[in-house]
Amino acid sequence: MKADHPPMLELAGVSGGYGKTQIIDQIDLSIGAGEFISLLGRNGMGKTTTVRAIMGIAGWVHGSILLNGSEICGAPTHIIAQSGIGLVAEGRRIFPNLTVAENLDAFAANPHHHTNPWTMDRVFALLPTLGDRVKSMGETLSGGEQQMLAIGRALMTNPKVLILDEATEGLAPTVRTLIWQILAELKDQGLAILAIDKHLGPLGALSDRYGILHKGRLVWRGTPSELGDQPKVIAKYLGV
Ligand SMILES: Nc1ncnc2c1ncn2[C@@H]1O[C@H](COP(=O)(O)OP(=O)(O)OP(=O)(O)O)[C@@H](O)[C@H]1O
Ligand SMILES: [Mg+2]
Repeated sequence: MKADHPPMLELAGVSGGYGKTQIIDQIDLSIGAGEFISLLGRNGMGKTTTVRAIMGIAGWVHGSILLNGSEICGAPTHIIAQSGIGLVAEGRRIFPNLTVAENLDAFAANPHHHTNPWTMDRVFALLPTLGDRVKSMGETLSGGEQQMLAIGRALMTNPKVLILDEATEGLAPTVRTLIWQILAELKDQGLAILAIDKHLGPLGALSDRYGILHKGRLVWRGTPSELGDQPKVIAKYLGV
């Protein structure tokens, strides 16, 4: 972490899983304000479980998870969300039978009294395609529009940290590009971002640091350029 980025989300020795099965093991990860960190790894390596452990929706979690200095490990999910983590979950999970405006409104909150909070107007300025669909039902949106809505909804909680789990999955290249542009803008605005994605090209341009998960362990960490210099690491942990 850079000296000018105070830690916003800090995981220390975080393990978690479901029932008797341990999936992630002793994860250490730190994200500063305004930093963009990406979690990489092949399918089934524990990326989503790490996110679910942070949000309190894995089966169980141990360790320490500090959000802006306060311990949230093991707290109820709604408390974690209110504490300032906005999640764009794998698979989007918007409300299909609510309109775009209703989907956004359902998440509107400013628990930390931000002076320039996210509002529907501000979300529509960032995500203009959504503004054109304000009265459309969630289920009638295209995949890209649903993803925009999922991002807008997370922003409506006025998070300190935004977590995106495969936000560009299954989208057309033009829509993916739009999402990368939106994330760059959010990073510029000083949001701390944790992204899980498989598109190393655009991720490399945005990410301050990478962490690679392999079988539930963080086996490599470094900058995108450091990873570029290590084809063996790429082949071993990310190759198909
Ligand atoms: N609810 C659950 N109960 C039991 N095991 C689970 C559950 N969810 C995931 N797992 C297992 O945990 C392991 C890690 O899954 P996880 O979804 O965290 O991986 P991932 O890295 O996000 O993969 P992908 O790239 O496919 O999204 C897998 O072996 C998976 O089968
Ligand atoms: Mg996943």
